Amino acid sequence: MSKDYFQQKANAYEQDENRVKNVENIANAILNHFDFHNIKHIMDFGSGTGLLLENLARFVDKITAIDISTSMNKKLAEKSSAVTCELEILEIDLSEKPLDRKFDGIISSMTMHHISDIQKMFNNFYHMLHVNGFIAIADLELEDGDFHTDDTGVFHFGFEPKAFLNYAKEAGFKNLAFKSASIAHKPNGDYPIFLLTGIK
Ligand SMILES: C[S@@+](CC[C@H](N)C(=O)[O-])C[C@H]1O[C@@H](n2cnc3c(N)ncnc32)[C@H](O)[C@@H]1O
Repeated sequence: MSKDYFQQKANAYEQDENRVKNVENIANAILNHFDFHNIKHIMDFGSGTGLLLENLARFVDKITAIDISTSMNKKLAEKSSAVTCELEILEIDLSEKPLDRKFDGIISSMTMHHISDIQKMFNNFYHMLHVNGFIAIADLELEDGDFHTDDTGVFHFGFEPKAFLNYAKEAGFKNLAFKSASIAHKPNGDYPIFLLTGIK
């Protein structure tokens, strides 16, 4: 069965100004937290159309964009010449098993609620980082289930901060910190977005 749950959404994905602004806020929260001076190669997990990575591209040499969705990857590929660093797009389901690669950092925005086994995902992130590599993972705080109009492919209605942080701690991450990164505005309400940061 196809896991391209974004097939119907990909074309209009960036037409939602609130969504674009939300991811820009997340990117700024990441940039405010980490010094990108020695960061060369990062991975964007669940990169979608590239809203997050395009805000960080000028600070790194290379970004590996990972997404399971053919449609979202296609939208990203169409605008790849505007991305100001080397860009590699991989169409894989990273929740299944880690890549045999090491990155300086892993960024992710609004993807973890689409992942069933959060502990396994953090274990995989840990495996794919150099020592001192970072994670910067943004997603929804616990919500009432109204954020998505269609829950296909949605495994979590946001996350409780302490429980989410504990998964990362259990995987081995240190210097873990939680902060508020943005508010996602939707017609049916406002949804707080957190950023979890940590170091291998
Ligand atoms: C809500 S979108 C977020 C896209 C982008 N990060 C943003 O903030 O605009 C979630 C993305 O995660 C991708 N995704 C979901 N599960 C995945 C998995 N197991 N492996 C790779 N990508 C996945 C989806 O295809 C989708 O493009």
